[in-house]
Amino acid sequence: MITAYDYSFAKIFDGAGIDIILVGDSASNVMAGHETTLPITLDQMIYHASAVVRGCTKSLVIVDLPFGSYQGNSKEALISTIRIMKETGAHAIKMEGGEEILDSVKRILSAGIPVMGHLGLTPQSIYKFGTYTVRAKEETEAEKLKRDAELLQEAGCFGIVLEKIPATLAEEVSASLSIPTIGIGAGKHCDGQVLVMHDMLGINIEFKPRFLRQYLNLHQQITEAVHSYITDIKANDFPNEHEQY
Ligand code: KIV
Repeated sequence: MITAYDYSFAKIFDGAGIDIILVGDSASNVMAGHETTLPITLDQMIYHASAVVRGCTKSLVIVDLPFGSYQGNSKEALISTIRIMKETGAHAIKMEGGEEILDSVKRILSAGIPVMGHLGLTPQSIYKFGTYTVRAKEETEAEKLKRDAELLQEAGCFGIVLEKIPATLAEEVSASLSIPTIGIGAGKHCDGQVLVMHDMLGINIEFKPRFLRQYLNLHQQITEAVHSYITDIKANDFPNEHEQY
């Protein structure tokens, strides 16, 4: 699984054979430049998701329910989800939390909409945690996470993202569930992995957590390409006689 937020990248990832594209609310950070995922709106998520869907022919497209669009009550959660499904053409939604959002998860599922859970570091709760460090290192939090994973599975979620938790805990949870877990900073025993595209392609070079493997350095390559473009124009070398009408 990889994130995408627009048509062009979604088309590349879908063509490359990725199973799942997540239209993450990380769009708030990497597309809009906000410090957290909290400011992104439902309308903005719908804009990103509909573009991603237009770029896909094979990949499953999952959309994050943004902060404030589902925490109020289960009716609000369903209304937000129905907007996403109707206005984007995506296949499923993802929401952060366990027991505390269970009513909403059940109501959305009862409307026939597939739901993916998200446990561990849940960035929409950053002001409760106070930091982006590894979650569930202590026994009480680890026990709650295991219980939440069971509850989400029993409710009918088709998968769960496990973010930034100890690899041993992710291994235990993954082994105990029959639905797949998708890890980010949760070790190799999850059933699948997800990365934010800007991080794995090296577009965003300020973010270098230990769990990240950077497959390209697009920041550097793009900077060099733009330098060449500027140089060519200033040297009156672009456009040349073959690049004009
Ligand atoms: O918003 C996002 O990109 C996510 C992934 C980090 C799982 O939720």
